[in-house]
Amino acid sequence: MTLALYRRYRPATFAELVGQEHVTAPLAKAIDGGRINHAYLFSGPRGCGKTSSARILARSLNCEEGPTSTPCGVCTSCVSLAPDGPGSIDVIEIDAASHGGVDDARDLRERAFYAPVSSRYKVYIVDEAHMVTTQGFNALLKVVEEPPDFLVFVFATTEPDKVLPTIRSRTHHYPFRLMAPAIMRRLLEVISEVETARIEPSVFPLVVRAGGGSARDSLSILDQLLAGAGPEGVTYKSAVSLLGVTDDALLDETIDALAAHDAPGVFRAVDQVVEAGHDPRRFATDLLDRLRDLIVLDAVPDASGNDLLDCPPDRLDLMNQQAAALGSATLSRMADTVHEGLTEMRGTTAPRLLLELVCARMLLPVDNYSADTVVGRLERLERRLQMADSRPEHVDPHKRSRTPVAPSPTTAPSHLSSTEATRLIALTAATPLTTTEKAEPDRPPTRPLVPLANDRRAVPPEERHKPLFERATPPVEVPRWPELLSAVRQGSRTAEALLRQARATQASNGVLKLTVTSAALALRLNDEIHKGILHHVARQILGDPLEIQVIVAPVGGAPY
Ligand SMILES: Nc1ncnc2c1ncn2[C@@H]1O[C@H](COP(=O)(O)OP(=O)(O)OP(=O)(O)O)[C@@H](O)[C@H]1O
Ligand SMILES: [Mg+2]
Ligand SMILES: [Zn+2]
Repeated sequence: MTLALYRRYRPATFAELVGQEHVTAPLAKAIDGGRINHAYLFSGPRGCGKTSSARILARSLNCEEGPTSTPCGVCTSCVSLAPDGPGSIDVIEIDAASHGGVDDARDLRERAFYAPVSSRYKVYIVDEAHMVTTQGFNALLKVVEEPPDFLVFVFATTEPDKVLPTIRSRTHHYPFRLMAPAIMRRLLEVISEVETARIEPSVFPLVVRAGGGSARDSLSILDQLLAGAGPEGVTYKSAVSLLGVTDDALLDETIDALAAHDAPGVFRAVDQVVEAGHDPRRFATDLLDRLRDLIVLDAVPDASGNDLLDCPPDRLDLMNQQAAALGSATLSRMADTVHEGLTEMRGTTAPRLLLELVCARMLLPVDNYSADTVVGRLERLERRLQMADSRPEHVDPHKRSRTPVAPSPTTAPSHLSSTEATRLIALTAATPLTTTEKAEPDRPPTRPLVPLANDRRAVPPEERHKPLFERATPPVEVPRWPELLSAVRQGSRTAEALLRQARATQASNGVLKLTVTSAALALRLNDEIHKGILHHVARQILGDPLEIQVIVAPVGGAPY
């Protein structure tokens, strides 16, 4: 029988305990400073190092060189209290799950007063302390409150709230945390290296995700994968099938199909899931995870650099493109849809059917009165109002409507007062469909492309179909465009991905006009960071300082 990885790699010192520096550092300081308390409470989720820390604390207190946070490792006490050592008569571990009754507590209380046999401290480690009964805690209260000098209690528990408050208030409480994905990954990598195990790098994120932040669970999963691996080591394919998670390639396919409004593609993906014998719920969960990653990536372009995202660098470009293609509003709408679907899927006998319904809902055009749509409409209406403001008072309506209207750059409607905004929302939501929209059923009906009903009276019939936006403006050549793109990429990959989705429709007279197909894209291109990078790069490469304008011009039936 081989010893499980998580037992072979039990930390022997605070330094080996990773990801819990917020508790180990102050604890080590207290020990080194000689400020030893008589009772400690280690709380936190399972498998994150509580029991290990309790043992390390005992080892630190009893090291012949100590008390020290860096036990020497060679003295009799250190050897016997090492993770693979025989243990010490003065360090007593009690599993409260099986010994939490009042009799056990009384028994403990009596023995606690005997001095340690061969060590400095007598340490009681009460593991799973939430299982101690109230009477049990009450029996311990006195000894915890007025212990002999040599006595130290360490309570370890996943549920500190269940520890009797009178006991809890006599302890120093150290809350452990779930381990961050990046830290967990490093731990797994180091251990695999020591084990000289062959593992494809793409396997680690799967293990980290499946382990849910618990070091013990993650190590157990890795153990199982290693046990079942052939001479080629642990491959992504074998891990995916053993863990029952969805292959990234299938998620990519689904996301791409969603972004392209390719319904057959989406349903083909669902079919593949079911054909391969996977659980539709699992697929939905993984899809939700992916949407989360894209949302994060969309909001924090360098998310993979600062550990918000565990994504291999070679996938980052693709994920960036996916995030940019869908945009934050659509992403969060889809995430909501999947999340709701997952709740509905719980306990259903027809999960495939529900998954298909969820997909159908994600493919639906945006709800006419949803907040996203209303914000989009608000922006358009605001632009129109701005134009109306800048119009001279009494102009011949015929003349006015023939003058081409130049849209102003998209801006967030931040300068509106809240009442104005409310009024506008009410107004936009109530905007009736225009004739153009009715005539073109393939376009989502949320996009008023001609002036509003009020304006219509002033517009001669032949002008009514003239789009408000510059739909027909052909793209223009921008000198040194590829160079510009790659320079922007240096600044931000997201900015580049966004720029690639824009068409330049003017590059003259000190203006670089970028035309995009959605308000969401325009907003993102217009945000301070991205626009700042564009400005900087344009000046560097094209010479003159340029005014950069971002214009929304929906093309054909492109997704909103
Ligand atoms: N912070 C950590 N650093 C390195 N390894 C860890 C850490 N936490 C846990 N482990 C690994 O997980 C194993 C179990 O840890 P430990 O028994 O200390 O967890 P626990 O918090 O007491 O869990 P439980 O609540 O389930 O009792 C350790 O032997 C070690 O391999
Ligand atoms: Mg434990
Ligand atoms: Zn020692």
